[in-house]
Amino acid sequence: MSVGAGPAQEQGQSFFEAVGGHATFDAIVRAFYEGVAADPVLRPMYPEDDMEGAVSRLTLFLEQYWGGPTTYSETRGHPRLRMRHMPFKVNPDARDRWIAHMREAVARQNLAPLHAVTLMDYLERAAHSMVNTFDATEES
Ligand code: HEM
Repeated sequence: MSVGAGPAQEQGQSFFEAVGGHATFDAIVRAFYEGVAADPVLRPMYPEDDMEGAVSRLTLFLEQYWGGPTTYSETRGHPRLRMRHMPFKVNPDARDRWIAHMREAVARQNLAPLHAVTLMDYLERAAHSMVNTFDATEES
């Protein structure tokens, strides 16, 4: 084995392909949204009547980011994720909840450990960059 070779990732193969392609990203995002649906802080932010749309948008974005099809940009344009999150109150509490649901969803996939760590490292950094307020979550 050569030094620095990733787990089961052949030369020229994208991370998207290496982790199992669409089936894997779809499963992660669906598991993630199950967590969101049960989360009192995150649930109200998402469109109740368009959860399938939300599943599709996040799946397509992640697939494109990791070297899969570029359908996200073809249908949604430039990601501009920070800007697209401005309408939502993304404080550290929301960020930590988002990360926790992702961690749970990724853990369920039984990916190779290095793949799981690589994915979570990106998702955590991206989540930190999405924070747009430090106002506390209101008690309900
Ligand atoms: C930090 C906590 C986060 C919160 C609370 C949050 C919340 C939301 C909400 C409420 C939506 C609208 C759902 C929809 O209709 O599509 C959304 C959309 C989206 N989010 Fe997040 N998000 C977070 C972090 C992230 C991160 C880290 C990423 C990427 C790695 C991401 C990627 C996306 C994408 C791709 C969309 C769809 C954008 C579009 O095309 O309209 N989000 N997010």
